[in-house]
Amino acid sequence: MAEFRLPKNSRINKGKHHKANGGKNLTTVKVYRWSPDDGENPRTDTYEVDLDNCGPMVLDALIKIKDEMDSTLTFRRSCREGICGSCAMNINGTNTLACTSSIKQFKGKEVAIYPLPHMEVIKDLVPDLTHFYAQYASIKPWMQTDSVPLSDKERLQSIEDREKLDGLYECILCACCQTSCPSYWWNGDRYLGPAVLLQSYRWLADSRDEYTGERLEDLEDPFKLYRCHTIMNCANTCPKGLNPGKAIGEIKKMIAQRHAL
Ligand code: SF4
Ligand code: SF4
Ligand code: FES
Repeated sequence: MAEFRLPKNSRINKGKHHKANGGKNLTTVKVYRWSPDDGENPRTDTYEVDLDNCGPMVLDALIKIKDEMDSTLTFRRSCREGICGSCAMNINGTNTLACTSSIKQFKGKEVAIYPLPHMEVIKDLVPDLTHFYAQYASIKPWMQTDSVPLSDKERLQSIEDREKLDGLYECILCACCQTSCPSYWWNGDRYLGPAVLLQSYRWLADSRDEYTGERLEDLEDPFKLYRCHTIMNCANTCPKGLNPGKAIGEIKKMIAQRHAL
């Protein structure tokens, strides 16, 4: 018989409630918790956070919880300014960066924080990105050339050609788009996903790269590229305002033009 519920060991239990030590401006932060070490089901713990004594962002609230209430809470972060991509998580249903999401918007309400969806969890809010990085490496994300540069300095590019990389080079590989894509949820083993394909187009669009044909040939596969069905969750969720769906469309156009030659 078909089972429509999560398996027993994946069901999320109600966890501990951590009260604030005073304060008037409280917000409840509900956080997904799971550890590979205790054999327990996942749970959600709640923490009352006094916003009058907290920094402005969701990441500040998590750091405050870890510092003052529960040192066992595990999450990734590094730059605290939307550059490294390591604090990507699901905040009230949206994949985004904790360090650029205001906690004040949740004043007097509850905010629910989960790891990026449809990825294996290493611990608490830390997803396993091993497969994602392997997919990224597979597109050879570096400049490939055979020719010898005209000078012994860098390879030059016109201002117009450089502008073609706008909207691509800003990607911080946070995986927010990748893990919001339904096609990636179902076919993530073979579909490269929006982040990796945007990065792939970043090199296809680079006038200095000399391996355009090889790159396109490698992408011409029923799964790697063509699982994108233009649902556009990727563009809606990208915290850097990028549009991976559009980049995927450009790759498809390049392949079609190549066949028309
Ligand atoms: S546009 Fe393509 S890559 Fe983006 S969410 Fe939809 S299916 Fe995924
Ligand atoms: S395209 Fe946006 S959401 Fe996707 S990995 Fe890059 S920065 Fe993150
Ligand atoms: S900590 Fe680097 S992007 Fe959030």
